Amino acid sequence: MTEIDRAAIEADENTKLESLKASAVKQLETVRDLPGLEAYRVEFLGKASELMRLLKDVGTLPAAERPIRAAMRNRLRDALSRIVEEVRTKLEGEALTARLSAEQIDVSAPVRPEPLGLIHPISRTMEEIAAIFGAMGFTIKEGPDVEDDWYAFGALNVPSHHPARAMMDTFYLKASHLNASAGERKVLLRPHTSSVQIRTMLEWAETRKTSGAAAPDIRIIVPGRTFRSDHDATHSPMFHQFEGLVIGRDITLAHLKGCLIDFLKAFFNVADVPLRFRASYFPFTEPSMEVDIGWNRKSAEVGRGADWLEILGSGMVHPNVLANCGIDPREYQGFAFGVGIERIAMLKYGIADLRLFYENDVRWLRHYGFSPLAPANLHEGI
Ligand code: DAH
Repeated sequence: MTEIDRAAIEADENTKLESLKASAVKQLETVRDLPGLEAYRVEFLGKASELMRLLKDVGTLPAAERPIRAAMRNRLRDALSRIVEEVRTKLEGEALTARLSAEQIDVSAPVRPEPLGLIHPISRTMEEIAAIFGAMGFTIKEGPDVEDDWYAFGALNVPSHHPARAMMDTFYLKASHLNASAGERKVLLRPHTSSVQIRTMLEWAETRKTSGAAAPDIRIIVPGRTFRSDHDATHSPMFHQFEGLVIGRDITLAHLKGCLIDFLKAFFNVADVPLRFRASYFPFTEPSMEVDIGWNRKSAEVGRGADWLEILGSGMVHPNVLANCGIDPREYQGFAFGVGIERIAMLKYGIADLRLFYENDVRWLRHYGFSPLAPANLHEGI
């Protein structure tokens, strides 16, 4: 092919592509945004575009013309593709800048109020109890709600004729309701958290036996659900208690008193809270004491007034109970106590009717609930 022939083919191809180039340049000016650019790309570079058709037709051209025309069509396609990518980069940059300036965060704006839930007073009271006893070196233990009567009564030295074992107080379950057969033992919903004393002491005695080393003293509290067949303004068939248990070689009644006084002062936030340790009887402690707190029945104010209210039971762990758990009562002794959580929550927060704790009335919860953002702590001091 002569130079003249080549020039003629190039000129012819140029004319063919000229109007396509012209409309591509003209249309580009109308592209304003990314969707517009995409439409532009489809029109000039898409499968159905004129340029693609020309590229496909290359195969049908006479062999002599083919390389010349193909090179020119490819050059146009490459140039157009480059332009589309350049414009895309530019438009994306502009879109990002626009978004960044529109989405500026005003750090001085007030917090948008979020619909927060509230902590139920029972949960809150348990958290407070855990915080105060935690500072005294106690850990938290839990036990099952469904117990058998050996843990709940027998091992706690409750004789078989004791009225607490009677059906009117304790909910018994049919063994057929449970997966495992209960054997000789009766199955029940625990009427107090004291059963966890037994579980803890058994574990402790076992650890001492297997590890050979002296296990550290027991210092636990056990918050949890308890069940009794009772229902009025101050009793509910399901309620909450927490148990305390301390076992060691030199534990005395003085420790028991000191521990309870510190707890009650911190819990009620009254420095000189009037307390009365009154001799009492529990099968699992000897001696036993109930603790009354001074208050004013009319104003429901704690720490003032001439009235007394019983708030907990306590005592030195009975030697029979220690022995039932494999602990030698001549070597170890300790104290225990059991407190009704609703009772002390009602006193502290001025709640008159126990039944309202469980009705889930949101108006009541809004009044008596606690912010989840202000957890119980010891800022009030112990
Ligand atoms: N378990 C007793 C009850 O439910 C409370 C109690 C009294 C627990 C004396 C104790 C204790 O650990 O030592 O009424």
